[in-house]
Amino acid sequence: MTAAASISRSRSNKRTAPVTVIPEVRQPNFDLADDVPKYWWDNDPAKTLLLAAMSASFPAGERFFIDSVRHYQSQITDPELQKAIRGFIGQEAHHSKEHQALNGYLEDKGIGLARLDREVLAFMNWMRKNLSPERQLAHTVAVEHFTALMAEEFLLKYDALEEMDPRMAPIWAWHAIEESEHKAVAFDVYKAIGGSEFVRVTEMMAVSILFPVFTSIHLAQLMKEDGQLFNIKSWAGAVKYMWGKPGVFRKLMPSYFKYYSPNFHPWNHDARDLVEKAKNKWLGAIISKKA
Ligand SMILES: [Fe+2]
Ligand SMILES: [Fe+2]
Repeated sequence: MTAAASISRSRSNKRTAPVTVIPEVRQPNFDLADDVPKYWWDNDPAKTLLLAAMSASFPAGERFFIDSVRHYQSQITDPELQKAIRGFIGQEAHHSKEHQALNGYLEDKGIGLARLDREVLAFMNWMRKNLSPERQLAHTVAVEHFTALMAEEFLLKYDALEEMDPRMAPIWAWHAIEESEHKAVAFDVYKAIGGSEFVRVTEMMAVSILFPVFTSIHLAQLMKEDGQLFNIKSWAGAVKYMWGKPGVFRKLMPSYFKYYSPNFHPWNHDARDLVEKAKNKWLGAIISKKA
């Protein structure tokens, strides 16, 4: 455990929250070389374009997450939570910036992400205009639970990173590690401001429909644009990977449903062992200095 990622007793939900982590802000350097293959995950269109579709949503999405937390920052009196908020904002700002660069790089390889990025931005702007600040923060809390599960249970637990081109894997490893590190920050802010359980849970219900629907539509659009829409072998392989064997989405369902418990806290699911292993394996080559 590094100094910046120190652990302290959680403040907001002592009965069910054993720990929290102060997120460490890192400045990575990635090698986006020209010879990275177009289908850089397992040489497979559906798996690669699924992550590309998600990457398209990150720049606008992560700016929204930052703003939803920042809205309440001045109301937080706990110095530890203030530190965690600064770490959260720093990490998400770097994610937004690096995925913007990655999306431009993928666009140059012929994967049309610019339109997806614009659609996500329009949706985020709609939410900024039409949802209360409390519901905007609840949206962030819900998506943070999704991203932490995907990071811990999908990217870090199985062989996805090993199956990727070695220039691409560190980007996803770095992002997954930091999503796990800061997974409780928005939740702790939400609890600290007295956010309602009804809004927290109903926003997760909305996200649980919107996130898979948007991602599936975007994936189908990218597959179509790439002439892969009827690549049954690739679709079947991706579906098997997610829902069959190893069945990464299927296996994360129990952790997903814990969100609906009134005793839920992100650190009830402790994946620090996986994250430590991933840090040792992936971060050394890409982190030159700390912010
Ligand atoms: Fe992120
Ligand atoms: Fe995040």
